[in-house]
Amino acid sequence: MAQIHSSNVATVWALCLWSVCLFLLISMAYSTPPGNPISCTSKSTEAQKSYCTISNALNAFPDRSICKFGTVVYPETEDEILSAVAMASKQKMKVKVVTRTSHSIPKLICPDGDDGLLISTLKLDRILNVDVSAMTITVEPGVLLRDLTKHAAKSGLALPAGPYWWGVTIGGLISTGAHGSGWLGNGSAVHDYVQRIRIVTPARPDEGYAKVRILQNNDPDLNAAKLSLGVLGVISQVTLRLEPLFKRSITFVEKSDSDLIQQALSFGNEHEFGEITWYPNQRKVVYRVDDRVPCHVFGNGLNNFTAFRAVPSTALAAKRSLEEIQESTKNASWQCITARTSTAASIASAYGFANDDRNAFVRYPIIGYQHRLQSAGSCLDSPNDGLLTACPADPRIKSAFYHQSAFSIGISKAKNFMLDIQKLRDLEPEAFCSVELYDGILIRYAKASKAYLGKQENSLEFDLTYYRSTNPNTPRLFEDILEEVEQMAVFKYGGKPHWGKNRNVGFIGVIKKYETAAEFLKVKKSYDPFGIFSSKWTDQILGLDQTGVTIIKEGCALEGLCICSEDIHCAPKEGYVCRPGRVYTDARVCTDINRISQNLAFTFTDM
Ligand SMILES: *[C@@H]1O[C@H](CO)[C@@H](O)[C@H](O)[C@H]1NC(C)=O
Ligand SMILES: *[C@@H]1O[C@H](CO)[C@@H](O)[C@H](O)[C@H]1NC(C)=O
Ligand SMILES: *[C@@H]1O[C@H](CO)[C@@H](O)[C@H](O)[C@H]1NC(C)=O
Repeated sequence: MAQIHSSNVATVWALCLWSVCLFLLISMAYSTPPGNPISCTSKSTEAQKSYCTISNALNAFPDRSICKFGTVVYPETEDEILSAVAMASKQKMKVKVVTRTSHSIPKLICPDGDDGLLISTLKLDRILNVDVSAMTITVEPGVLLRDLTKHAAKSGLALPAGPYWWGVTIGGLISTGAHGSGWLGNGSAVHDYVQRIRIVTPARPDEGYAKVRILQNNDPDLNAAKLSLGVLGVISQVTLRLEPLFKRSITFVEKSDSDLIQQALSFGNEHEFGEITWYPNQRKVVYRVDDRVPCHVFGNGLNNFTAFRAVPSTALAAKRSLEEIQESTKNASWQCITARTSTAASIASAYGFANDDRNAFVRYPIIGYQHRLQSAGSCLDSPNDGLLTACPADPRIKSAFYHQSAFSIGISKAKNFMLDIQKLRDLEPEAFCSVELYDGILIRYAKASKAYLGKQENSLEFDLTYYRSTNPNTPRLFEDILEEVEQMAVFKYGGKPHWGKNRNVGFIGVIKKYETAAEFLKVKKSYDPFGIFSSKWTDQILGLDQTGVTIIKEGCALEGLCICSEDIHCAPKEGYVCRPGRVYTDARVCTDINRISQNLAFTFTDM
């Protein structure tokens, strides 16, 4: 695979041409810009500056705080980035980079204090070069994954890895370690395809307070810059290594979960893009059997993942209301019925994958080109209809609102983690229905990376999405069980949180889990000696601020801001008190005593 001559590329290009042209014709439709995560209000005329706020795509950071800052700039060139960074560096002003979509859940984009500067990559959205013979693409950081992969395909090239939602920018997604699934080849993390980065960092006064650093292939600093959480500077260009456009064949296979633990590890070694979706209450798993096939194999499949399609706002509101009623009446069996129905619908429709452009699933396997199968997000292209339809978690309307806990656990420990989840499931099967409502526990394969903040070993990444109340003080149904899973992952099995997902608890002690943390911090210190790109949150997760990531207050455990140590951290008035975990007894979780008292088999021991 390594050395492919450009004439071979031309052949592949010719083979793949017809579908690409078709694809381009079809996708020239509308485009609804997502809601702007930034809002600024000008104060009275005397006040010089406006006051701005920023949030994430869910419009709720884990601690639900409002992030205020002073000014936002929208550079269009590297020179404009240079002058913005020079200005901030000269004044030792706090600065953060933000993407147009602001998808990371934790507070990575918030500069401390009210006067900070935000540098948005909104207008840095050009594809600069596709080098067919070198098989690389060079883009500005604000290019959406959707546009990058489309353009690469026009030249007969493909990015082998990528997250499943294509509405994220290349700068943001590499900086938080976004990935797909697969241990084989070069792995599933996009940052592992980075060949060169240009990054604007602070510099000495005699250098003009800011400079461009060019980090290439063998420069060890690239291992810091390709997954940097935005704390080194502003990426101005990314060059990715690509491969000749190829095809894949996908089949979803439903099985019992009885031998999941035996299957899970070997499955990752058998299928390049394999992944597993686990529905613990239904005792069911869906294996995604997903491999490369030669380009001449017939098929023009399309990933139109159901959960990323535009949905009528009325339907989104109705779905949310149903969830709220099931939660407030604590009717878990009802929740489980709904979960079963939605799982059955997902499986029957192949999760929205289609055999061709008629947008229907007819039969397996689904065969098609990489750029049409790896990622999806058709709601981004839906008509701009004043929110009559929307993406499924649009905070401007009543719609899905959730927590997302995602951890990678090394191969040697993943088996026991899954065994523990099964033990919990056997005690409280219905506890997992809230996760099943959001397509189950997604298990993906992540390969060891050289990135200092990347995976240190081959691991399994567990993604759980589940109901979050609009009221931070309202406990959830089976609060305790999912808190226990979270604490097991973080402490018992040393799970590493996805940098762009998770609640505060997920980040406790995170930097100690990285053997290469010191290398990363060395680069940070040399690039940004005054820490203008640092904030309290990034200092806390990087271990530079010893106060730690937890926030202790009334009800703090309900939103994963703390681990409870007293009942008041839960919701004692509603019967939720702090108790040990049931399988992992070192866990401390908010347990509903009313539910537990109905279950005579269960007695507390060590509190
Ligand atoms: C994959 O890895 C091989 C071996 O390290 C390397 O030569 C090749 O360039 C890589 N391909 C991509 C697309 O990164
Ligand atoms: C994806 O599905 C939606 C809803 O069925 C449809 O409107 C849209 O055209 C599909 N996208 C593509 C690219 O076919
Ligand atoms: C739970 O929901 C189901 C289905 O809607 C209903 O039949 C049942 O009566 C409800 N149980 C309680 C305790 O409300």
